[in-house]
Amino acid sequence: MVNNAPKVQAFNSYYAQAKSLYAAGDLSAARELFLKAASLANEISVTSSAYDVRMEYHKLAVKLLDFARTKCVRHATPAGAAPAKKNTEDGEVKSFTAEKGGKTITFADVAGLQDVKDQVIFHVLEPMKNPELAKAYGINPGGKLLLYGPPGTGKTFIARAIAGEVDAAFYAINCQDLISKYMGDSSKQLDKLFDEAQQNERAIIFFDEFDSVASKRGDGTGGVDAEMARFVATFLTKVDGFKKSETCKMLLLIAATNRPWALDSAMLRGGRFDTQIYIGVPDQKAREFMVNKAMKDLPLDPDVRLSDIARRLEGFGGGDIVAACDKIRLEAYKKSVRLGKKQNITKADCDLILSGLRNNTGADEIAKFEAYRQGLDVT
Ligand SMILES: Nc1ncnc2c1ncn2[C@@H]1O[C@H](COP(=O)(O)OP(=O)(O)OP(=O)(O)O)[C@@H](O)[C@H]1O
Ligand SMILES: [Mg+2]
Repeated sequence: MVNNAPKVQAFNSYYAQAKSLYAAGDLSAARELFLKAASLANEISVTSSAYDVRMEYHKLAVKLLDFARTKCVRHATPAGAAPAKKNTEDGEVKSFTAEKGGKTITFADVAGLQDVKDQVIFHVLEPMKNPELAKAYGINPGGKLLLYGPPGTGKTFIARAIAGEVDAAFYAINCQDLISKYMGDSSKQLDKLFDEAQQNERAIIFFDEFDSVASKRGDGTGGVDAEMARFVATFLTKVDGFKKSETCKMLLLIAATNRPWALDSAMLRGGRFDTQIYIGVPDQKAREFMVNKAMKDLPLDPDVRLSDIARRLEGFGGGDIVAACDKIRLEAYKKSVRLGKKQNITKADCDLILSGLRNNTGADEIAKFEAYRQGLDVT
């Protein structure tokens, strides 16, 4: 039986410290400790044998994660007061730079997710290749996509692959950073971002962790809520007002979230992010693709079958699958170092790693996404 007492003790200590830091206004330190406490609560929840304890700590983990993400950000300047701090040293709004170069990933690197690929093929790639044909059907290149699903299922990964496929300027925006760094000024930043993106003939703006800026308003009292309301309003003006211009012929907005139910419903109406795609855990074919890619060039014992490894990873997200393969590889490498010569990866190496894995995507979380997909109320 697992003895969770030391973890519970550590959890209590982190939680207490986080609360006092939050009360003292040190939000970034508080965020850090709330996240540590949430991670411990999660560990306690998955390892405990008592149902009540599992549920209690699961709820605590979700609550603390949510609190760290949404509340542990700098508060806005109260209305009417002078801004406390400018964004940059000279007070200018920060410029955004499109990402270019570096290691490019493309659709060929992405397992499955054909529905996302199709959206991009029919809304961007084909209309760019043959504009006349698209025009005959009233298809304008570009648009808005909302990708949602559990953590580690490939939302950010596919957004980067889209950038690799479409020869467009790619602006990757971490919304959590946008709101916490530019509290009080995030809507100005947004103005600037759209202006800069639209200087390009083709542009993609990727809003990662979209729920941190576009959540439903809470109790309406916090600075974060007011900031979000401003952000949502500016965002909607930009989205509704976008027209193709001489300079910008294609603008694709991609937003990603793992809490779609928390989004402000104004974002999801027709003409806005009405194309929503669920990014779930991969099927056997997609898992085999990932395992093959991670392990195909390694020395394997003849009885190690990559398809069996993929089967044992059923229910895991892409991030966990890649991490599991990394661990197996490391295990064999350590053995080779110890023995001073190259060793095959054995079935025992695989068993050791696979049997010790903990799935971070719980069944209740998947159920929540299923309920959301069916249009049920999820909170
Ligand atoms: N469909 C996929 N094909 C290939 N690799 C994948 C796929 N999905 C996930 N991965 C791998 O898993 C890693 C984690 O995925 P990613 O960061 O895109 O998840 P995410 O959905 O954005 O998670 P979060 O909601 O936590 O932001 C990727 O860097 C990639 O290596
Ligand atoms: Mg992501």
